Amino acid sequence: MVSTSTQIAGFAFDNCLMNAAGVACMTKEELEEVKDSAAGTFVTKTATLEFRQGNPEPRYQDVPLGSINSMGLPNNGLDYYLDYLLELQESEPNRTFFLSLVGMSPEETHAILQKVQASDFKGITELNLSCPNVPGKPQIAYDFETTEKILSEVFAYFTKPLGIKLPPYFDIVHFDQAAAIFNKYPLKFVNCVNSIGNGLYIEDESVVIRPKNGFGGIGGQYIKPTALANVHAFYQRLKPEIQIIGTGGVLTGRDAFEHILCGASMVQVGTTLYKEGVVAFERITTELKTIMEEKGYESLEDFRGKLKYIEE
Ligand code: SIN
Repeated sequence: MVSTSTQIAGFAFDNCLMNAAGVACMTKEELEEVKDSAAGTFVTKTATLEFRQGNPEPRYQDVPLGSINSMGLPNNGLDYYLDYLLELQESEPNRTFFLSLVGMSPEETHAILQKVQASDFKGITELNLSCPNVPGKPQIAYDFETTEKILSEVFAYFTKPLGIKLPPYFDIVHFDQAAAIFNKYPLKFVNCVNSIGNGLYIEDESVVIRPKNGFGGIGGQYIKPTALANVHAFYQRLKPEIQIIGTGGVLTGRDAFEHILCGASMVQVGTTLYKEGVVAFERITTELKTIMEEKGYESLEDFRGKLKYIEE
């Protein structure tokens, strides 16, 4: 019997596929749809302390090999997602869900995390250190000093399971430096990767999204090699207690297989979920299981992280 079950932070999930924060997760109705699909769990839209309208539209565009977005963290505010998750804990006590969040300043991030810490929330928290789309706010995890300061302050009071959503890194030295910081903290996971920030897509003579004169985060097929490199680089460098969630360019079971081969314990689907809807989870799961069957693998542990290199 082939199984795609997995665990993160000691919580069990009957499937390793889930949505990526930002897709199908703004409203309770969208989250319910993911919850009731073949996905193993869901993550909410990244919540700020208060409701945010986000950037002006059009701010998301499907493009041939993926997507470009500059959403600007539109969301219903922390209480909307936290209240829903607290209700779900009662009605679905055997399942675990992810809450994504970040503040518009370090102070707001701490206020949000302190609220989660003080609540009865028993799920997993993902701190988004990588949104590329808020004008004037750089992607936090590209600033190692700020990232380390935030993590050291957070872990002084936050004792619930916590992971971080990362932007893609492109330099081996940056993988080394980032991993050295993350290894100092009791993180449960890192999620690699958010969109590749500030790309530009042009049709005829014009950009396709309004915010920032068309600059936006790139997702989909364009980013799979970068996503896989980040998953594997952190799998090689992080202490084993810090698991990897792989995100980026997952269209097929083969893509999910490659993320797991690179070291991912969970795989998130963003652009493909946006384009295809929640039926994508069943299709990708079936394709992944077929590959596992062909190779004689019964569980993800049989091949996780076992990427082969070309010997000298
Ligand atoms: C956004 O809301 O701008 C996308 C979220 C993200 O990239 O973190």
